[in-house]
Amino acid sequence: MKTPNIIAIDGPAASGKSTVGAILARDLGYLFFDTGVMYRAVTLAVINSDIPIKDEVKVTHLAETIRIDVNPPSLDDGRAYDVFLDGCDVTWDIRLPEVNYSVSPVSAYRGVRLAMTQQQRRIGMRGNVVMVGRDIGSVVCPEAELKIYLDASIEERARRRLIEVQGRGEEVDYKETLDSLIMRDRIDSTRTIAPLKITEDAVVINTDKLSIEEVVMKVKELIEDV
Ligand code: CDP
Repeated sequence: MKTPNIIAIDGPAASGKSTVGAILARDLGYLFFDTGVMYRAVTLAVINSDIPIKDEVKVTHLAETIRIDVNPPSLDDGRAYDVFLDGCDVTWDIRLPEVNYSVSPVSAYRGVRLAMTQQQRRIGMRGNVVMVGRDIGSVVCPEAELKIYLDASIEERARRRLIEVQGRGEEVDYKETLDSLIMRDRIDSTRTIAPLKITEDAVVINTDKLSIEEVVMKVKELIEDV
């Protein structure tokens, strides 16, 4: 069996991409690359600076100058990887509500996407990688041999995100979580550059009634068919 060199997993927020992608990469002995982390790191850098989110020129310049590193986890605190922003560990800070709030507007900027996509492509081209995001199959690695689009209803995704966030001890309610996902979905799928969309050659998996294990099984079946 020849395993696809690049497996692209795209889909809306909280559709299970990161969990499924991480398990799959572990089982295949592949690198797991969650591209959302990079957009989150840029957004955190903007928030930590005095640059307004609306200032596209300055935000883009910042995105071009910061250094983002993603390494294997160094702590046993539930993290799947370490994320460093200019040398500082920001693994948990990139999940803060203020980052959730601003990450989609920041990710819609052309220059920000260009800077991130170039780095992502370099890593993708090395192969043996499971890449997760919004535009992997469409823009970052259109040559990926297997493209999956994970979907789920907005209610189910909000329920999952709520459990995840509450599991970290944060206080949020269902309505807030739902509204935040709706806003992010809208911006991500209507932006001009690299919007979230289902490419013609992607296999759509609706995960509403599937457990993580069942989704992983389905993807493995697809890998065998490639
Ligand atoms: O984990 P969750 O699905 O909530 O989001 P994420 O994958 O961490 O991505 C956060 C945000 O980054 C998304 O809402 C998009 O705005 C942006 N993003 C993107 O534009 N392109 C990607 N390849 C990955 C993420």
